[in-house]
Amino acid sequence: MATHKLLLLPGDGIGTEVMAEVKRILAWLEKAGVASFAVEEDLVGGAAYDSCGLAISEEAMKRAFAADAILLGAVGGPKWANVPYESRPEAGLLRLRKDLELFANLRPALCYPALAGASSLKPELVEGLDMLIVRELTGGVYFGEPKLIQDLADGQKRGIDTQVYESYEIERIARVAFELARTRRNKVVSAEKHNVMKTGVLWKQVVSEVHGAEYEDVVLEHQLADSCAMQLVRAPKQFDVIVTDNLFGDILSDVAAMLTGSLGMLPSASLGAVEEISGRRRALYEPVHGAAPDIAGKGVANPIAMIGSLAMALRYSFGLAEAADRIEAAIAGTLAAGFRTGDIASPGTTVVGTSGMGDAVIAQLEKAA
Ligand code: IPM
Ligand code: MN
Repeated sequence: MATHKLLLLPGDGIGTEVMAEVKRILAWLEKAGVASFAVEEDLVGGAAYDSCGLAISEEAMKRAFAADAILLGAVGGPKWANVPYESRPEAGLLRLRKDLELFANLRPALCYPALAGASSLKPELVEGLDMLIVRELTGGVYFGEPKLIQDLADGQKRGIDTQVYESYEIERIARVAFELARTRRNKVVSAEKHNVMKTGVLWKQVVSEVHGAEYEDVVLEHQLADSCAMQLVRAPKQFDVIVTDNLFGDILSDVAAMLTGSLGMLPSASLGAVEEISGRRRALYEPVHGAAPDIAGKGVANPIAMIGSLAMALRYSFGLAEAADRIEAAIAGTLAAGFRTGDIASPGTTVVGTSGMGDAVIAQLEKAA
């Protein structure tokens, strides 16, 4: 059996709590003979800053480059509100994304039947929802230069961020979206703001060109990003794959997450290009939710997004699709059995904490084994 090199970066806040449940599931998978892992662990975010004054150490970056896949919990919290901008917790995550060139962020939003009632939308609008946001992750306004605050002569200040995209960046993310659409319901919505942004004009043009040249079998629709946000809460089931830039993808994926009942439900995969000779592709998996300082340390965080991120790692990095299916079925089974963390609780369900949810998922895995 191949041994998979996995780097765990629990990070801050509830990141460490939800990662603890992933460790138990990894141990279960090994014990059940499903897979074998060489697991390393390191610090990122505020935890790394407290230890070495950087949001991620060079040592941890080396480990990240050497790993077959990385699982990250969450970064950030009020404790680090006043650290230098370059060392803020988020800088660790952004460096990982940028240096490892993880340009394709896959954020699937799936509404489990048992949770349709937990959404803030009417159950019939979200029941059976199965969509995928493909977010560009290494370009756009997150990384564009110049990025600074200037002092002006009249005592005013000027803040500058730069939204910039080159055509190759749009081409490669469009391909990821079209390829994935072919494995799903064959429809892509491309979201940008070509009515006010030059990057939007280019985005729309390049996506159309890639479509015309290679993917005419896929249905392509262009939506303005604001209208796309509106459609997401009006009729979310019209969507199959949404492809969009870094900032719009950040926002639209939070909206999509809430449709499924809670931010605590959404996993994500951030993938690099497939390497030509090895066929390998760098990858980092993380829940869409953040460090949630308001509930951190209480043992009540929902670990499902983190566990779902492990399932994505098994599927996309380790070729263990069957094991991924088992974990996803165990999550669905846990919800169907009525177990809920506080964020998705409703009358008549059994409210459990983080480790209680881990117990329930492992019990489902046992039952199916
Ligand atoms: C996300 C997060 C990050 C982002 C933060 C923590 C930098 O919100 O992954 O969606 O903005 O990309
Ligand atoms: Mn976000």
